[in-house]
Amino acid sequence: MIGILDSGLGGLTVVKKVFNALPEYQILYYGDTANGPYGNKSKEIIQKYAFEGVKFLTKHGAKIIIIACNTTSAAALDSLTKEFRIIFFGAINPGVRKAVQITKDKKIGVIGTRMTIHSNVYQNAIKAIDAQISVFAKSAPLLVPLIEESWIKKPEANRIIKNYLYPIKLKQVDSLILGCNYYPVIKKNIQSKIGKKVKLIDPGDEVVNDVKMFLEQNPEIEKSLVKGSAHKFFVSDLTPKYQYLAGYLLGQKIKLIQA
Ligand code: DGL
Repeated sequence: MIGILDSGLGGLTVVKKVFNALPEYQILYYGDTANGPYGNKSKEIIQKYAFEGVKFLTKHGAKIIIIACNTTSAAALDSLTKEFRIIFFGAINPGVRKAVQITKDKKIGVIGTRMTIHSNVYQNAIKAIDAQISVFAKSAPLLVPLIEESWIKKPEANRIIKNYLYPIKLKQVDSLILGCNYYPVIKKNIQSKIGKKVKLIDPGDEVVNDVKMFLEQNPEIEKSLVKGSAHKFFVSDLTPKYQYLAGYLLGQKIKLIQA
């Protein structure tokens, strides 16, 4: 199965893309709703939670794992890769490659959780490809709760988005990485505040492209993946609110299972 690891339910925006691009494969999702969101937590604790999540996914038959969460990728991908022999697809590098490829003015903006932005993974990965590029990064910790609480249509939400984006807009970036898997939900709000000329990069799109290409180039792994639509969505804590949020983020009703 294709395993998908997330700090909670934001990873379902990535599942949506997997369903579109790779519809034949069975998905095994693990969202750590008991401990997530991870955005304000320490690297050490995120690594600990991510190890548990990966163990769960491998035990239940995942053959490759997409780390759908930017925060988990920022904090734990390196240590997961050292510890486990399974193939991981992290959320950071695919979006970085795309941004570096499309920026003309060599000015890239990034927004994400506090952990993601303060870890500097995006900034370092961009600079490692092209040191001439200026990166303007801003943590936007209020956006995840706004989306979880369905506040995105309220004027308050747009004011907060504008506030976060203002310093990046001032720098006249030509591309902006949406470095958190909840942000596709507010893509339109973000586009209207940052300006329509700025290209938005959704790392989820790029990760799924990478997985697709990888499977085309690695038929032995492709063959080992279970096909079919009996997807399983596990969460470490289950409440009616999570059940509702899952349907909202994926755009279709699913049944969450208590892990
Ligand atoms: N899934 C996280 C990300 O993509 C956002 C939620 C969290 O803070 O855990 O960065």
